Amino acid sequence: MADMQRVLVLNGPNLGRLGRRQPEIYGTTTHEQLAELCTQWGSELGLLVETRQTNHEGVMLDWLNEAADDATPVVLNAAAWTHYSWAIFDACAQLVAPLVEVHISDPKQRPEEFRHTSVVTPYAAAVIAGQGIDGYRQALEILARS
Ligand code: DQA
Repeated sequence: MADMQRVLVLNGPNLGRLGRRQPEIYGTTTHEQLAELCTQWGSELGLLVETRQTNHEGVMLDWLNEAADDATPVVLNAAAWTHYSWAIFDACAQLVAPLVEVHISDPKQRPEEFRHTSVVTPYAAAVIAGQGIDGYRQALEILARS
């Protein structure tokens, strides 16, 4: 049997508090539970998923650079960095395997105008927003098919 395709699920700032962070917007699933779900969904799709979260932009850049070096597909929820980080934009530009952008809420439907732009979208094969935690499953499905 061929080796399972590796996928990185990378979550940015404040997503470590999932489940406790504004549950009316982001739901009650914790980051630990999300990571378990992604592993499970991945294995059903034949993907070896590793889920990581950081509040530190440099750490996220290192992970994206690692994905570029290893040609690893990425599911990225860059959280607030999505809206202003040119360093994340430059890191996404270097990826060679497919990138899927995920947001738990739908930033474009939210009142704060700063959420209406994304530096990730220009490099994303697909954008999934407003689907809650299930958006991560949908993103993995897209990667499994690509
Ligand atoms: C988010 C939406 C962003 O606007 C916000 O800054 C986040 C989370 C989402 O998953 O809905 O931190 O990316």
